[in-house]
Amino acid sequence: MSDSHDAQPLWHGRFAEGPAEELWEYTLSLPFDQRLARFDIRGCRAHVAGLGVAGILSPGDVEAVEAALDTTEAELASGEFAFVDTDEDIHTAIERRVTELAGDAGARLHTGRSRNDQVATAFRLFCKEAVATIAERVVGLQEVLVRRATEAGDAYLPGYTHLQQAQPVLLRHHLLAHFWAFSRDLDRLADAHRRLDVSPLGAGALAGSSLPLDPVANAERLGFASAFANSLDVVSDRDFAAEILFDFTMIAIHLSRIGEEIVIWSTEEFGFVRLSDAYSTGSSMLPQKKNPDIAELARGKAGRVIGNLTGLLATLKALPLAYNRDLQEDKEPLFDTFDQVRRGLGAVAGMLDTITFRTDRMAASADSPYAAATDLAEYLVRKGTPFRDAHAIVGAIVRRSLDEGLELAPLVEAETRLGAEAAALLQPGVPVTMRTTAGGAGPGPVETQLAAARTQLETDRSTAASLSR
Ligand code: ARG
Repeated sequence: MSDSHDAQPLWHGRFAEGPAEELWEYTLSLPFDQRLARFDIRGCRAHVAGLGVAGILSPGDVEAVEAALDTTEAELASGEFAFVDTDEDIHTAIERRVTELAGDAGARLHTGRSRNDQVATAFRLFCKEAVATIAERVVGLQEVLVRRATEAGDAYLPGYTHLQQAQPVLLRHHLLAHFWAFSRDLDRLADAHRRLDVSPLGAGALAGSSLPLDPVANAERLGFASAFANSLDVVSDRDFAAEILFDFTMIAIHLSRIGEEIVIWSTEEFGFVRLSDAYSTGSSMLPQKKNPDIAELARGKAGRVIGNLTGLLATLKALPLAYNRDLQEDKEPLFDTFDQVRRGLGAVAGMLDTITFRTDRMAASADSPYAAATDLAEYLVRKGTPFRDAHAIVGAIVRRSLDEGLELAPLVEAETRLGAEAAALLQPGVPVTMRTTAGGAGPGPVETQLAAARTQLETDRSTAASLSR
């Protein structure tokens, strides 16, 4: 902090000397925790109400602090709020301003409160809103997937294992596979939200207070489902942040898997999709290029958010009870992951909403007769051949076809155990219709699945809406 400034941090009383420049520069959190401003103000309002009820602040003082909080909030929202050198974090900045505005009454605001319960309160409120925002965006993407799946009709493409063609699948089946992953993500968010929904306000620095404060009433004022059970635990608990970081990271990983597919599908070689202009980028040098940058960043940013998650876990490891300044490191990873995943969900939803599926290319690729090899083997099974033998019979025909450059269909027809009926299975569009088991890739089960996905989407939509209440 500059020597020219004679203002002091809020905790200056015990100190004969002001803080060193290096200490300040290193420990300052204001540049990033300004994002908690709105939530800190809410915490202040709840706390000042509690002080009023307890008779620690007179009604006049409560009113003065509330008015100062209104002004402070308005200044913060409009950008007029003037930070000063001694504002160490957003919490001290707000208290400093409230004291400037409300004088003595303002100086009573921090009664029975510590930054430790204050920070934990504001951070949990932020996280609750972040979870609701991400949940809304997840549902937005699920809606796109269901709509595109509905439109996809009976289009089919090769299904892959090891990125080698395996069996054809309906395009809707493929799109819905991603839908279910996001549905699990939503369920995880709702579950994490329950543990997030606990108010730390009233825990003080670590042990509570001698003043007649009521943490349960504070929890109600702040819209938390409950108050803490243990003050030591709640001021040092960041499980909630680690948990939602994981949940957001899982979403980022799901986005990255879609991203990788779109990168592959949009290549000249695959040509399964064409990206819309608004959701692709050009090359600065190569005029013909249209690049899948959203898809690539969905892949790339997953690495970054995994780093944020493991970073926070490492911060929390082996921390003794209760608050330690290490915990200040909880915010940046969470803010960053929240921003990246929020934007990623929007960008990928837009990309998929406007992408063109080149179903002719998909079908042409899936119509390779080799994709029907399993159907031939299962044909033999239906005729009584043990599957292992059937696998060998079909495998030998496939090998011969490949080695000798012969078409598969005539070889199948010529094989006495197979014949014309089996060869008909190689016809374009036939193999995909052969998957009839529940949850499988054929038209019957996928129709059922699509209906189930629509029902699930309704559930997910109301789950997401309930999180923002
Ligand atoms: N900016 C700090 C944080 O985010 C505030 C807490 C400081 N508390 C303390 N006892 N020094 O964690």
